[in-house]
Amino acid sequence: MAATGAQAHPIWPARVHHFRRDSADPARLAEFYAAALGMAQRRLDRDQWLLTGRDRRLIIGAGPKGALPYFAFDLGDGGRLAALRRALELRQVPILPSPSPLFDGRAFAVADPDGRRIAFGLADAVADAPGDGPAHSLPGRLQHVVVASTALGAMVDFYENALGFVVSDRVRDDAGDVTAAFLRSDPEHHSFAVFRAPQSRPDHHSYEATSWNDIRDWADHLSTLRVPLWWGPGRHGPGNNLFFMIEDPDGHKVELSAELEIMPIDMAAREWKHEQRTLNLWGSAWMRS
Ligand SMILES: [Fe+2]
Repeated sequence: MAATGAQAHPIWPARVHHFRRDSADPARLAEFYAAALGMAQRRLDRDQWLLTGRDRRLIIGAGPKGALPYFAFDLGDGGRLAALRRALELRQVPILPSPSPLFDGRAFAVADPDGRRIAFGLADAVADAPGDGPAHSLPGRLQHVVVASTALGAMVDFYENALGFVVSDRVRDDAGDVTAAFLRSDPEHHSFAVFRAPQSRPDHHSYEATSWNDIRDWADHLSTLRVPLWWGPGRHGPGNNLFFMIEDPDGHKVELSAELEIMPIDMAAREWKHEQRTLNLWGSAWMRS
């Protein structure tokens, strides 16, 4: 018997709710995100800061520069959270404690082949504080997390076949090898993506705005902070979204995006050529391999 959607895709639908970024200088990183993303900051304990703003939250911790040790999905309700846990247990995916201080005791986590944790919990257990600073009202919902990996095949297999993500787009080189894959956990084109690279590392995370005008307003705001654009503006092929990227003080890339494509669960994955135009229809691209 063919698996139904819920059986084949137990994560569906789920959205990225928050993530953790580590730094050797977490106080400086928290100051950066507070000012750049219009977030209020609160120190949770000796080593952790909570940054919250309009539809965006992150934990900043003391740790290796540039690290992104976990990201966390909201499952919407307790029944779905429990069903996901059962589905993962049936697939013999080890269930780990949730590393997030934001989710309650029902939350749990898994580890992907690169050792990064993915936490699953309920956002309604989280009290969102309003943002702060000049950018607090700019729309930018935390939307996707992307990594680079030396084990792209194993990573895609885990997210697709263990967690139930749906592949939206694959990029292939001339030899036919996959160099990037974009995966969705709800109709938004991707909530996670992985690039082939010489090192496994965090790649970037993205905030989804509502329009091109928002992208302009974000760039104008960042200009007042003297934060230069690092890549873009452009339009990605996979996802068809408008974007630019900046760097945080540790060199981790931060994306502002709009017009991300919507794909129903049953829409087939597409293929792209490994070339700069794929990653930026308007011009040059950041090639990870
Ligand atoms: Fe992105």
